[in-house]
Amino acid sequence: MAKIFRWSFVGVLILIVILQVVSLPVLNQQMNPPVVQEPVWVDLQTRDIAQRACFDCHSNETHWPLYSKIAPVSWLITKDVVEGRETLNFSEWNKVYEEADEVGEVIQEDEMPLWFYLPLHPEAQLSETEKQQLIDGMNATLGLSSQQESTEHEADHDESDEEDHD
Ligand code: HEC
Repeated sequence: MAKIFRWSFVGVLILIVILQVVSLPVLNQQMNPPVVQEPVWVDLQTRDIAQRACFDCHSNETHWPLYSKIAPVSWLITKDVVEGRETLNFSEWNKVYEEADEVGEVIQEDEMPLWFYLPLHPEAQLSETEKQQLIDGMNATLGLSSQQESTEHEADHDESDEEDHD
């Protein structure tokens, strides 16, 4: 009996190692491309809350913790970041995102941040006040950036000399 246990233990270990090796290509996708352009944030508080709750999946400033490197967790996390960035990327605001106007709705209805993200990221757990601040701030920010519109109105922003801060 003990022998069977020992061999099945070794078998499982070998499978885990094989899984890590065949999953190596996934790690290549876990990169942070340069920040191209952020929205014109209405205020720093909005950016701050968005950074806490949304940036890991919706920006190029993703934190990749150690557990994100271990298969099969690595597949799931990488998939979320790749799909999250495709849907809405606060670091590539030069692109148009069809679902950008749903931001308020998904926060209101607790659809975002994705529920399974929260237990390991308490900083992304927003109070009702913070949620409302983020919704209002995001709506104002989307209005300011009005990425769907043409760029004709750019001259209207007299604060655009702030672009190079960081
Ligand atoms: C753990 C990763 C993750 C976090 C954190 C996250 N999102 Fe998402 N988000 C996704 C993924 C993946 C999609 C696309 C697939 C889907 O809809 O589930 C998405 C889709 C969206 C969409 C498109 C509408 C929709 O439901 O598909 C909006 C808007 C959005 N997210 C806003 C936010 C906002 C705002 C935050 C922060 C409060 C946030 N997300 C946090 C992963 C994330």
